[in-house]
Amino acid sequence: MIRTENLSKVYRMGKVEVQALRDVNLEIKDGEFMAIIGPSGSGKSTLLNLIGCLDKPTSGAVFIDGIDTGKLSENGLAEIRREKIGFIFQQFNLIHTLNALENVALPMFFAGVRRETRMKRAEELLTKVGLGDRINHKPSELSGGEQQRMAIARSLSNDPEIIIGDEPTGNIDTEAGNAIMDILEGLNREGRTIIVVTHDAEIAARAHTTKRMRDGILLD
Ligand SMILES: Nc1ncnc2c1ncn2[C@@H]1O[C@H](COP(=O)(O)OP(=O)(O)O)[C@@H](O)[C@H]1O
Ligand SMILES: [Mg+2]
Repeated sequence: MIRTENLSKVYRMGKVEVQALRDVNLEIKDGEFMAIIGPSGSGKSTLLNLIGCLDKPTSGAVFIDGIDTGKLSENGLAEIRREKIGFIFQQFNLIHTLNALENVALPMFFAGVRRETRMKRAEELLTKVGLGDRINHKPSELSGGEQQRMAIARSLSNDPEIIIGDEPTGNIDTEAGNAIMDILEGLNREGRTIIVVTHDAEIAARAHTTKRMRDGILLD
């Protein structure tokens, strides 16, 4: 389970302060499929980055499986990110010089998985997201929807319990976006917790719970 407690984030740029999150209290149960919606600038990415241990709060706390992540060292945080969380982003964040197999295998390289095992698993994951016939393609040789599927396969490489998507359908057409949501739905049925930020009400409607944000406040 993920729980935030009075989670706040202030960005300081010189003399300018932006309060990006204000006392957010959110509980996400294991196996939940949650969408977070809200206008641009409402703090959605900030919230995801804090939940995903990519950034640290100004005040308040994020608990993951009962662990107060604010009390962890950088190594401890990296371990949580590596072992529990898979990330997907609007811009896919793939490595353009690597093919699909190598992109998906890369996190396993960093996790110390041996080459034969990681290549086999990367191929299985690409097949799972419907890219079994594209394993040697580079990102630039694939459509946006296919690139996002590659990114999902990569996010699964270390078998995460939690998948966090920051506008994962924001850069692709409706049909490809629905295919992404089909995959996320399947991963949720496997028992994974899914948290997706989106602008798109139709995409949000496919989640089981929807939360709205405005001006750094979680509305419901
Ligand atoms: N790294 C940053 N430095 C300074 N301000 C930021 C940074 N990231 C986000 N912000 C500001 O924090 C607010 C919330 O941003 P964000 O969480 O990205 O919102 P959303 O994802 O809902 O569009 C915005 O006003 C944004 O300009
Ligand atoms: Mg954002």
